[in-house]
Amino acid sequence: MTVTVYVPRDAAALSVGAEEVAQAVERAAAARGEEIRLVRNGSRGLLWLEPLVEIATPAGRIAYGPVAAEDVPGLFQADFLHAGAHALLLGPTEDIPYLKKQERLTFARVGLTDPISTADYEAHGGWRGLRNALALSGEEIVEAVVRSGLRGRGGAAFPAGIKWRTVLNAAGDIKYVVCNADEGDSGTFSDRMIMEGDPFLLIEGMTISALAVGATQGYVYLRSEYPDAERTFEAAIAAAQQAGYLGEDILGSGRTFQLELRRGAGAYICGEETAMLESLEGKRGMVRFKPPLPAIEGLFGKPTAINNVITFASVPIILDRGAKYYADFGMGRSRGTLPFQLAGNIKHGGLVEKAFGITLRELLYDYGGGSASGRPIRAVQVGGPLGAYLPESQFDTPLDYEAFAAIGGMVGHGGVVVFDDTVDMAHMARYAMEFCAIESCGKCTPCRIGSTRGVEVIDRVRHGERREANVELLRDLCDTMLNGSLCALGGMAPFPVLSALNHFPEDFGLPSTPKARAA
Ligand SMILES: Cc1cc2nc3c(=O)[nH]c(=O)nc-3n(C[C@H](O)[C@H](O)[C@H](O)COP(=O)(O)O)c2cc1C
Ligand code: SF4
Repeated sequence: MTVTVYVPRDAAALSVGAEEVAQAVERAAAARGEEIRLVRNGSRGLLWLEPLVEIATPAGRIAYGPVAAEDVPGLFQADFLHAGAHALLLGPTEDIPYLKKQERLTFARVGLTDPISTADYEAHGGWRGLRNALALSGEEIVEAVVRSGLRGRGGAAFPAGIKWRTVLNAAGDIKYVVCNADEGDSGTFSDRMIMEGDPFLLIEGMTISALAVGATQGYVYLRSEYPDAERTFEAAIAAAQQAGYLGEDILGSGRTFQLELRRGAGAYICGEETAMLESLEGKRGMVRFKPPLPAIEGLFGKPTAINNVITFASVPIILDRGAKYYADFGMGRSRGTLPFQLAGNIKHGGLVEKAFGITLRELLYDYGGGSASGRPIRAVQVGGPLGAYLPESQFDTPLDYEAFAAIGGMVGHGGVVVFDDTVDMAHMARYAMEFCAIESCGKCTPCRIGSTRGVEVIDRVRHGERREANVELLRDLCDTMLNGSLCALGGMAPFPVLSALNHFPEDFGLPSTPKARAA
């Protein structure tokens, strides 16, 4: 009997030798005359176990990992094709606690299927949301997304359905759907994992969005550093078109949606939606003034629905299982699930999809297993380079947009970057300001000039030059940037700086306070 072997094609797995492992498996099988079917799946998101090789058995999938190419002959000798015992045997994949405890809605298929097989996608529940959407009016689709409570997963958490309604009601001879796949936030990789592990999910979500708002053309703006995602996604577009799920006359409905991929310009600011539109139009990525909102005058001046990859990827399940099913996950106004990404100094880095409401501590210890160095975790940055640094006293905060805002933090795209007690938070504050100076688009003065002056002032504080006066100046500068910047790059760069100052004053040579000020 032919045994199916899964070796991921995900970039994280490839970076630790998955390609060599796949070749070694094929070679060893051929040499031994064993018939196998090799599937290059997405990653399960247990990154410390990559390359994670799985075998399909009558009792379910069995995992081995992390597998190196040199391990492959030994695995064959141990009869791993029939789940034989081996030092790398992890048991049934679905029983690995890291995976078992998750609530995978968006990532339900990632790692399970062949990412570029439309038939495999369909066999695992794909295209059902699209089929349902084809039977609905634009307003009915919008209404379902509004009722699901889905908020944008790219950072600002704006309700997706409300944005879509604006585009639907805007006048335009042509409308666009644009997916923001620039994924510039530190420690984030969920967009990439979807595009490499379940690209049809994004295609389906964008097509449903197009049906909702009346768009006929879509673009995916992809981070330039994601060549594997580009290859897989281009292959998925071609396969979806070939199978009639995309392009002209979708599933015989008479509806059209064309989708194209555009490679990003390699700048953090090009993830800001208006700078992204400029870049898509072939110009330098500069932030636009708002209004007009892109929903009314967006790409090439036409009504445009812009959402993050995970926002679009959350839509098919809403149209398939219903708005209530999705909204039943989560807490408060944060409905559904979020794929959190554990990165930095963490033992078990990877992807954890859970309903909103899980605490940071649970993510860091129950999933992450503590720091990779084995030292105490001292600070965590959630929500990308503009997110506050959170001290241990805030680790019990539930991951919820409002709860995080209340402590001066931000959930953002769900990236969690971990630092142990060797971190110098004054250095991290400088890093945050320097990042802003390097990435500033230059359009407004508080950010363009303020970030550069900010680096200088932090340096003076760190070197002990008139420390108290320079800290006051730094706070004043942060206030100007917070309130005077045109976009969130300059407007939020002060958050990591102020949080470092407030929670870790001793790193700046200041007296530590028993009760830190709010960020
Ligand atoms: C400096 C900056 C960088 C951003 N980078 C990204 C990004 O890489 N990906 C993303 O989806 N949103 C990014 N955003 C947010 C977008 O401007 C926009 O809010 C988002 O794409 C809208 O989609 P959503 O509502 O689905 O989140 C960024 C915003 C700023 C200010
Ligand atoms: S805040 Fe910075 S990135 Fe944003 S518009 Fe101003 S200069 Fe450009």
